[in-house]
Amino acid sequence: MDRWFFNWLGLLVISAFFRLVLCYQDGFLSLSCGGTTSYVDSSNISWTPDGYYVSTGNMTSVVFPEGTSSTSLPVRFFPDSTGRKCYRVPTSNISSLVLVRTQFVYKNYDGLGKPPVFSVSLGTAITTTVNLAHNDPWIEEFIWPVNKDILPLCFHSIPNGGFPVISSLELRPLPEGAYRVSDSTDKLLRKSYRINCGYNDGALRYPLDPYDRIWDADEDFSPYHVSSAFEIQSNFNLSNIKESPPTVVLQTARVLARWNSLIYRLPLDNQGYYHVVLYFAGILPVSPTFDVLINGDIVQSNYTVMRWEANSLSVIVKGIKNLNITLKTINYYPLVNALEVYEIVDIPLQSSSTTVSALQVIQQSTGLDLGWQDDPCSPTPWEHIECDGNLVTSLKLSDINLRTISPTFGDLLDLKALDLHNASLAGEIQNLGGLQHLEKLNLSFNQITSFGSELEDLINIQVLDLQNNSLHGTVPESLGELKDLHFLNLENNKLQGPLPQSLNRESLEVRTSGNLCLTFSSTCNSHSRTPSLETPQVTIFTPRKSKSHSHLAVLLGAVAGAVLALSVILFSALLYMKKKKAENPYTSRSAINMQNWNSARVFTYKEIKATTNNFKEPIGRGSFGCVYLGNLPGGKLVAVKVRFDKSQLGADSFINEVSLLSQIHHQNLVSLEGFCCESKQQILVYEYLPGGSLADNLYGANSKTMTLSWVRRLKIAVDAAKGLDYLHNGSDLRIIHRDVKSSNILLDKEMNAKVCDFGLSKQMTQADASHVTTVVKGTAGYLDPEYYSTQQLTEKSDVYSFGVVLLEMICGREPLTHTGTPDSFNLVLWAKPYLQAGAFEIVDDNIKGTFDAESMRRTALIACRSVERDALRRPSISEVITELKEAYSLQLTYLASSGFVN
Ligand SMILES: *[C@@H]1O[C@H](CO)[C@@H](O)[C@H](O)[C@H]1NC(C)=O
Ligand SMILES: *[C@@H]1O[C@H](CO)[C@@H](O)[C@H](O)[C@H]1NC(C)=O
Ligand SMILES: *[C@@H]1O[C@H](CO)[C@@H](O)[C@H](O)[C@H]1NC(C)=O
Ligand SMILES: *[C@@H]1O[C@H](CO)[C@@H](O)[C@H](O)[C@H]1NC(C)=O
Ligand SMILES: *[C@@H]1O[C@H](CO)[C@@H](O)[C@H](O)[C@H]1NC(C)=O
Ligand SMILES: *[C@@H]1O[C@H](CO)[C@@H](O)[C@H](O)[C@H]1NC(C)=O
Ligand SMILES: *[C@@H]1O[C@H](CO)[C@@H](O)[C@H](O)[C@H]1NC(C)=O
Ligand SMILES: *[C@@H]1O[C@H](CO)[C@@H](O)[C@H](O)[C@H]1NC(C)=O
Repeated sequence: MDRWFFNWLGLLVISAFFRLVLCYQDGFLSLSCGGTTSYVDSSNISWTPDGYYVSTGNMTSVVFPEGTSSTSLPVRFFPDSTGRKCYRVPTSNISSLVLVRTQFVYKNYDGLGKPPVFSVSLGTAITTTVNLAHNDPWIEEFIWPVNKDILPLCFHSIPNGGFPVISSLELRPLPEGAYRVSDSTDKLLRKSYRINCGYNDGALRYPLDPYDRIWDADEDFSPYHVSSAFEIQSNFNLSNIKESPPTVVLQTARVLARWNSLIYRLPLDNQGYYHVVLYFAGILPVSPTFDVLINGDIVQSNYTVMRWEANSLSVIVKGIKNLNITLKTINYYPLVNALEVYEIVDIPLQSSSTTVSALQVIQQSTGLDLGWQDDPCSPTPWEHIECDGNLVTSLKLSDINLRTISPTFGDLLDLKALDLHNASLAGEIQNLGGLQHLEKLNLSFNQITSFGSELEDLINIQVLDLQNNSLHGTVPESLGELKDLHFLNLENNKLQGPLPQSLNRESLEVRTSGNLCLTFSSTCNSHSRTPSLETPQVTIFTPRKSKSHSHLAVLLGAVAGAVLALSVILFSALLYMKKKKAENPYTSRSAINMQNWNSARVFTYKEIKATTNNFKEPIGRGSFGCVYLGNLPGGKLVAVKVRFDKSQLGADSFINEVSLLSQIHHQNLVSLEGFCCESKQQILVYEYLPGGSLADNLYGANSKTMTLSWVRRLKIAVDAAKGLDYLHNGSDLRIIHRDVKSSNILLDKEMNAKVCDFGLSKQMTQADASHVTTVVKGTAGYLDPEYYSTQQLTEKSDVYSFGVVLLEMICGREPLTHTGTPDSFNLVLWAKPYLQAGAFEIVDDNIKGTFDAESMRRTALIACRSVERDALRRPSISEVITELKEAYSLQLTYLASSGFVN
């Protein structure tokens, strides 16, 4: 009987082998860490070097003594003791669950005889401490619920622990719904045991298990007992076992023969929660019934294993250090065919996406690589950051060149401490008003000139250090209202007194030395310097802000912003007009009809109403007003842009702007047909482009019906770049668009592209300085980070925004999203490393397989150069055109040679 059984088993194993080999190995990733060559191993698994997935660490190999089967094994070790040392493995191909297997080998590769100790994290969770003095090699297996596109597997040095070292990393997708311990993705599993019960002839894995789990033989686990002869059913119906164990594993079992109970005693590494899966298959000629006990508790009574059927039992056990699985006989012989035991590890919550993207933008604006990747708080906080759980509570960025406190700082709502000393900050203290938890603010050793109006909103502030700045004027009364403030350092500024009496209290220490004259008394003693030269003659008090909170404050902020923006426009328009005046004596309203409007015509409001059929069909809405479709008497379609009241200019400024717009004519710029300035309305009439915007066609409404081919995208890019080139270089006027984005690139019937919305452009004459300083304007996601921090506007800011448009074209997505994972929120940060590495898997799926690789490479490179942080390193728009034209013609050649039609 025995022999019969094993013969059949042998046959089954062989047939199973052939069935499986043909279909799987999908999604497997097997990295030979520190390796330099690819190879296929004896299980027919393909191994590749790890260099693509890791950017740190040194490569070496373990050399085995002569006479051993293999001679050497590559390993990678990490001598740098700071920061996270991580593999970043894409998991976008894996739908829900992945097995991660790592092997750590020391074997005295460095000849020092000191096996290292270090800890390992997966995503945000610290999973384990590897101690190669205890086991060498040390193998870890994790089951990870895929919750982001990139899985970071990182190593963390322990003081005096030596260098982390790894020899292999394997990823194996697992069946969906398997190993479920929680409804969300907040737990991962760390393997303790996976036993092929009743089998003692070595471990089984791929290709017998298509998921390449390693099923250990039963012999290591005492009491050791191997099943004798059982009947075999080769086609168990496994549909109700989510884990899909391989049939061959279920074909053997440990079966109780003589004793009353079948017992597995399994020691565990840590006291904690464990997930136990038991597999039962009806391989006996009878249907046994038994109770299942774990550590003495009945977890299933009267459990019956029906003949020919297979089932599993999953149990979560809390707070145990040892596992005792007992099957207690009721009827016939209890049996178990396989078992798995996993430690349950909590995955710490990720920080909020707002926080992560804010920090990424801040990192970008420093121009430094701070090593800020993945999650800021877990598994260990980033450098310069401290956390409380998943909240970022402290940020210290000093001795860098930050220049302004950008609005992004206002998104770090959980901050309790902010230290920006010696960060070259200038101007006023701004964008911090929303940080309601802030207790400690250190802005010392900068060039800050004004308190601004937001300090008074920091209701929890305790420590405020403003020493060694260039603050001048008087100290605002409102500081005294900060009830928790107990330390205020104003030393070495240019302030003058008197200090508000509200600061004169026992609980508050105020330091004032090194100022012009800063005391609580209103008279300065005669020894102090006279404040005449260095202080302004007039002190302007900013009006107190209403304390009735958030919404109103935000609203007021917005209105103030709009007013400020408007006044800048007004101011520049006035400047322009002043200049105009000199050369043009007509300045009154009656001048409208006499100015040279080129081809633009003047409409009456009545005509506009008729043209738009009383504003019947809105076709868009911009920041400055609504756009309606219009139909001119001759049948020509136009886009009629009606300005919101708020965004209106003074009549003279408007006319001057129109005069400017009417001078600009280029085939790649949307042209002005006319305007109306009547009945308090300011209306601009543009040619109408029926093809929608580039954004519509890439990922908006139009993209659902038709995909823009790569060659079309390139043609559009060339067109739009030509339009910008004309603005920058094409006439005596030097115009910076300031709001280049894919929704401002419009298409006509023939898919020719034209740039629109340059009405708000800042015009510069050659006589102007090389830059203008103005308020930050533009659209989030397209904003030049340097413009953000320096507030100096140049043509290179347009180039940056245009680079973002090119990235959109390549990837087919918006510049900012809040879906997916934090790594991918910001298009520039996400796409740049891939594209620079020539990794085109992030190219828009809709155009994959239809583009010439060189054409894509050139476009990707010019896009990446355009979004360089340092404006000096960005190309000019004419250089961009040259590259795009080249990419375009490469793609045309490719299409012609491959017989594609676009
Ligand atoms: C190894 O795998 C490849 C596909 O990955 C398959 O074509 C080949 O037949 C396999 N070879 C063996 C010996 O199983
Ligand atoms: C690791 O590599 C770097 C650069 O390749 C080298 O400078 C360093 O000495 C190496 N460290 C060790 C411990 O081998
Ligand atoms: C994802 O799958 C695609 C197609 O199946 C393949 O070309 C690509 O290499 C895979 N990516 C990874 C990271 O496995
Ligand atoms: C497997 O069992 C499930 C229910 O347990 C049943 O719905 C399914 O039809 C069975 N499949 C086969 C092939 O017998
Ligand atoms: C395991 O549990 C069984 C029944 O609960 C008990 O009889 C046995 O002594 C236990 N063994 C150990 C080692 O705890
Ligand atoms: C187990 O099943 C037997 C017979 O099927 C029954 O007599 C007994 O009461 C059951 N025990 C429990 C605890 O359900
Ligand atoms: C300020 O930072 C610069 C680097 O940006 C550094 O060279 C300088 O020593 C720092 N000054 C102080 C006072 O820390
Ligand atoms: C602020 O930073 C400066 C420079 O490091 C330091 O000297 C000062 O003590 C800090 N202030 C407080 C209140 O910690």
